[in-house]
Amino acid sequence: MKATSLKKESNLSVSPMEFYVSEETAACGHKKPFSTYYDNPEHSIKLLKGNCIEILNQARKNSVDMIFADPPYFLSNGGITCHAGKMVSVNKGKWDKSKGAVENHKFTLEWLNACQQVLKPHGTIWVSGTTHIIYSVGYAMQELGYKILNDIIWYKRNAPPNLSCRYFTHSTEIVLWAAKNVKSKHYFNYELMKKMNSGKQMRNVWEISAPQAEEKKFGKHPTQKPVELLSRIVLASTKEGDLVLDPFSGSSTTGIASASWNRKFVGIELEDEYLQLSKKRLESISNYPQQNQEPKTHRIPPKRQEGHNACYPTYA
Ligand SMILES: C[S@@+](CC[C@H](N)C(=O)[O-])C[C@H]1O[C@@H](n2cnc3c(N)ncnc32)[C@H](O)[C@@H]1O
Repeated sequence: MKATSLKKESNLSVSPMEFYVSEETAACGHKKPFSTYYDNPEHSIKLLKGNCIEILNQARKNSVDMIFADPPYFLSNGGITCHAGKMVSVNKGKWDKSKGAVENHKFTLEWLNACQQVLKPHGTIWVSGTTHIIYSVGYAMQELGYKILNDIIWYKRNAPPNLSCRYFTHSTEIVLWAAKNVKSKHYFNYELMKKMNSGKQMRNVWEISAPQAEEKKFGKHPTQKPVELLSRIVLASTKEGDLVLDPFSGSSTTGIASASWNRKFVGIELEDEYLQLSKKRLESISNYPQQNQEPKTHRIPPKRQEGHNACYPTYA
C-alpha cells in the first residue's frame, strides 16, 4: 500500500454510494422502512435507523462488497456475569431476549437471506457469535447456499472470570467468514495478513483484547466489539473504496474501522441511544491520526505466547 493520500486515490468523497433503499413498500404502498440518521458524504458514511431485514429487503441487490454482522446473541436470560470485578446482570436489552430456538433460527435465516441479496457476487460476510447463536448461523448459511470460508476463533485474553465456578471461563467468540455462494471468487489480502503476522501465514485463532477504555470515551454499548478486530476483518477482505455494511451497527465499530481504512460504510441500527453513540464516534473520525497513511505492523502486546503472535496494523 502506498504512503500517498489514500483518500485521493480512492476518491471516496465524490463517488456515489452504491447502496440504495427504495422508500416505498409493496405491502403498505408508501411506508418508508427507514430514516437516515447520519450522512457524512465526505467519508462516505451513512447510518440508517430501522429494522435491517425490512431495509435490506428493499435495498439495491448486488451492491455491497463486505458485510460484518454482530447480531443479537439471544443470551439475555436473566443470568449473571462479571463486569469490572463485579457481579452484574447478563441482560443487554430487549433486543437480545431469546424467542426460543425455532424463532431465533427463523430470524437468523431472514436477515442472512436479506444480506445475501445485497452482497455483490464475489462479496463476503462475517458473522460473530457465541454458542447461543453461532450454530444456527452456520446452519442457516448452509441452507441459503453461502460458502463458508473460515471459522475464526477470537480469543479474549482479558475475559472476565466465571463467577459460578461451575463452567470453564468463556474466553472466545466465533466469527464465521463466508462468500455469497459457491461460485464467488472472494477477495483475501493474504500478503497483508502474513505481514501483520510477522511474515508467517495468519491462522484462524486471533488473540485480541476486549475494547479498551479509549474506545468507550463517547459512551458504552453493552456488546461493543474492539476496533482491532474490525480493522483486521476490513483489511483482510476489502479494498480501498469498497462498500462495507453492518446490519446490526450498535456503536458502529465497523464504521470506525471502515472509515479509518478508506472504505465506505452503511450501518443499520434500531435504537436511538446507539445511533447517537455511533454518530459521536463517527464524527470523531476526522480527528483520527491514522487516516490516509500507510499501515504499519506492530506486535501487541510485547510478550505473546507462541502460536498467538498476530500483529495488528497501526499508523506512524
Ligand atoms: C450485538 S449488538 C452490535 C454491537 C456492535 N458490533 C458494536 O461494536 O457496537 C447488536 C445491535 O443490533 C441492534 N438490533 C437488534 N435487532 C435489530 C434489527 N432487526 N435491525 C437493526 N438493528 C437491530 C441492537 O439494538 C444492537 O445495538
